[in-house]
Amino acid sequence: MLPNVWQRSAAEPHVPVLAEEARELLAVRPGETVVDATFGAGGHARLLAADLRGRGKLIAIDRDPTTKPYFDRFKAVAGVEARFLRGDFSVVLAQLAANGVRADAILLDLGVSSMQVDRPERGFSYATDAPLDMRMDPSAELTAREIVNGWPERELATIFRRYGEERYAERIARAIARRREREPFARTGELVDAIKSAIPTPARFGEGHPAKRVFQALRIAVNDELGALEAALPAAVAMLRPGGRLAVISFHSLEDRAVKRFLQEQARGCTCPPDFPVCVCGREPALRLLTRKAVRPSARELDTNPRAASARLRAAVRT
Ligand SMILES: C[S@@+](CC[C@H](N)C(=O)[O-])C[C@H]1O[C@@H](n2cnc3c(N)ncnc32)[C@H](O)[C@@H]1O
Repeated sequence: MLPNVWQRSAAEPHVPVLAEEARELLAVRPGETVVDATFGAGGHARLLAADLRGRGKLIAIDRDPTTKPYFDRFKAVAGVEARFLRGDFSVVLAQLAANGVRADAILLDLGVSSMQVDRPERGFSYATDAPLDMRMDPSAELTAREIVNGWPERELATIFRRYGEERYAERIARAIARRREREPFARTGELVDAIKSAIPTPARFGEGHPAKRVFQALRIAVNDELGALEAALPAAVAMLRPGGRLAVISFHSLEDRAVKRFLQEQARGCTCPPDFPVCVCGREPALRLLTRKAVRPSARELDTNPRAASARLRAAVRT
């Protein structure tokens, strides 16, 4: 069971979001194979493993190697067979599907974990000065530093607008381009200063920290979060057994839109033009939706975990 109030602490560094709702939709039964494709600190995995009641298998995936100690701790008490696969979930899910591994429940809890954000040296946070990094997988090539120093001004503006919904995207991109001509950016603090200098003074005090949206945009670009999601969804469906459930928790409107479109499209049968008298495509729906509208955190959850504010959960079952 979830504790009544799950609070972040050294022992519980990440509070799982929409945990009971995801658990209910995934409805794991003893003997099944569960894939937690975003293991993090294993909060969701523990709940799902509990529903296996000692019989079944849990496959944990994460691209961040620092999650492995959490997996080791989880495995020691999970009471079921458990494996950790380090890598991008889009690649790992496709490999598992290609190797004939089938799952009864798959969870994707997207974005970054509290451990990643709260460790200043990872460079995800605008709140502390640190190297400009933001890689979930520290062996990946692209860092925030490379994007900030190397991408054309226009591309910077595009990602700030698209991924960060930043109103002052162009002004900030221009300030970055000017400043890097003098000296390349190396640290988050320098970037925060450049962002602050680019936006009008009154705007620095509304809508949260002035660097919040640009940092979010950079993080999404560094980790190609939307690309990974779009590749992972079909791979997850390919892995599901008939009757298998897929649940996705997203934190960004672009992610949620991609999930919604994909699930709706997979839940549609015939794709013939409406003026065709009979179906010639013969397409059967691959999924049945379990959520018509996205599930959002309750007021009670938001009281104890404000980081859940933008979470949206959607789920479907393999036909
Ligand atoms: C929101 S956290 C998950 C937290 C987890 N559900 C828990 O209860 O502790 C997201 C995790 O997914 C991982 N992640 C994000 N995108 C990934 C990807 N494309 N492939 C593999 N892991 C990814 C991150 O490294 C992070 O550990």
